[in-house]
Amino acid sequence: MVDKIKTCVFISGKGSNLKYLIKNSKYHDFPISVNLVISNKKKARGLFIAKKYSIPCKYFSSKNKKKFEEKSLIEIKKRKIKFICLAGFMKVLSNNFIKSFGNKIVNIHPSLLPKYKGLDAHKRVIENKEKYSGCTVHFVTSKLDSGKIILQKKIKIKKNETIHSLKVKTLKEEHKLYSRSIISIFK
Ligand code: GRF
Repeated sequence: MVDKIKTCVFISGKGSNLKYLIKNSKYHDFPISVNLVISNKKKARGLFIAKKYSIPCKYFSSKNKKKFEEKSLIEIKKRKIKFICLAGFMKVLSNNFIKSFGNKIVNIHPSLLPKYKGLDAHKRVIENKEKYSGCTVHFVTSKLDSGKIILQKKIKIKKNETIHSLKVKTLKEEHKLYSRSIISIFK
């Protein structure tokens, strides 16, 4: 693929999904290139990953969401970004922002949506003694972890599963599912 879709990844934390998106974007037939990383946390470890791969990155505080979105949009337009991936980004974007970007925003969530939206999904899954959990990639709306589902991966929960072990194995699947979902969107 010659013309890759210029993409911005929004992060708040350690950025392991970001890392896999960057790595896969290096394959010539992967549809997107990561051209910008925006974090709403100054100390997000993912910012170091962006720097390591020489990808432009910006930190904007999201204490004032309107300002965060305005600053992000300026940067996004400047760099001709056409697609946004939320990867461990812990803020719900406004309807205005989503509309002004033309609904081309996707997110990854560590549960089998529509079950277990929001924070502490693994903890609630374990407490409820679920037999399965998983992860979901979906289009973003202004409602938390809602929007059309693109792909899901189901994960079996072991007898002695802990929040930590579930988190580790789900994250491993997230890294694969996110890229597969992006391929499926643009194929
Ligand atoms: C992932 O489980 C993601 O689904 C959730 O937060 C975690 C972030 O992981 N929203 P990372 O920052 O990509 O390592």
